[in-house]
Amino acid sequence: MKKHILVVPGDGIGQEVTAVGKKVVEKIAQKFGHEFTYDEALIGHVAIEATGDPLPQETLEKMRASDAVLFGAVGHPKYDNDPSAKVRPEQGLLKMRKELGLYANLRPIKLFDELLGASSIKPEILKGSDILFFRELTGDIYFGEKGRKNDGDTAYDIAEYSRYEVERIARKAFDAAMTRGKKVMSVDKANVLETSRLWREVVQKVAKEYPEVTVEHQFVDSAAMLLIKNPKQFDVVVTANLFGDILTDEASQIAGSMGMLASASVGDSTGVYEPIHGSAHDITGKGLANPMASILSAALMLDISFGLKAESEAIISAVEQTLKAGFRTGDIADASTPKDMILGTEAIGEEILKRI
Ligand code: NAD
Ligand code: IPM
Ligand code: MN
Repeated sequence: MKKHILVVPGDGIGQEVTAVGKKVVEKIAQKFGHEFTYDEALIGHVAIEATGDPLPQETLEKMRASDAVLFGAVGHPKYDNDPSAKVRPEQGLLKMRKELGLYANLRPIKLFDELLGASSIKPEILKGSDILFFRELTGDIYFGEKGRKNDGDTAYDIAEYSRYEVERIARKAFDAAMTRGKKVMSVDKANVLETSRLWREVVQKVAKEYPEVTVEHQFVDSAAMLLIKNPKQFDVVVTANLFGDILTDEASQIAGSMGMLASASVGDSTGVYEPIHGSAHDITGKGLANPMASILSAALMLDISFGLKAESEAIISAVEQTLKAGFRTGDIADASTPKDMILGTEAIGEEILKRI
């Protein structure tokens, strides 16, 4: 199969982990006889430094012309600590999602049994957890009108959803549920927010098209509690942009670490495959980042954008075998991990490559 992949590493550990993610894709191409071509483009802080723009037109054009995008992360402490900065790396990421119409962000919470001890949650509570989040990605408080008034003393961010936006993400979630445990939990805050009341109304309506699927509605505060209390009760979760952002960072602890969570952002055009974690400047440049979120994002890319199921599974299996062999990065090591089994970004990448 011939495909053109755009690698967009972005900032911080984004650079380190996508380099490994790309190597894994190259190995797959070689092993399975595919012809993948690659290009690179700038986004985030590195793009601001080079061009003044967090999402240069050239990057956007390259994205549109590619079959898929392997994305790293954006962000830099310079902006995190300067609320007055007008141009920010995250604007590049948000504009990319909007421009490419990436309204569905799939975040699988896949727990490898080998990592049962890496979480702060008790193993017996965790074992068997397998959740698929559908985070709406191009609406909500992220994209509504925002600004200041009263001479800057009052700030506002408006949350907005249309019926159409809720309907299309709900359908994706129900379609996925039909191929899994046939359970959907819709998470909202309908006791307070008008957007959530529309959300619930639309999800109830879409649910009627899927009589085999059991639907549950939970308020986000309660859902956050249940995730830790009993993660096994979850199958598919569908939720709004902001709630999905927060709940999936929480859910990363079910999988053991932020460094394990991959995602697929899909919608109207080229799919973007990105770890859920950020640029992690606390560990940037140290070679400590766990590349598995990027590697597993590459697996999602092969499966969802290219329909290469066996290739995707070969990656997941290589990650699993590496964990079975006892290799860990620092974020997923526990008290029982021997020191010499704790590897850096590149070295664990090599172990995974060997097993493909
Ligand atoms: P973060 O996800 O970057 O890091 C949170 C914690 O998890 C840190 O302690 C970090 O060291 C650890 N961590 C994250 N990924 C890891 C990995 N692969 N291996 C090992 N440890 C890992 O979140 P943050 O610190 O809140 O944000 C840092 C910057 O990243 C900010 O500028 C933020 O805006 C940006 N950000 C970007 C994205 C994105 O590009 N999709 C996502 C989240 C945050
Ligand atoms: C994510 C990130 C982004 C988000 C930020 C960096 C804009 O946290 O991809 O989860 O909130 O969507
Ligand atoms: Mn996030």
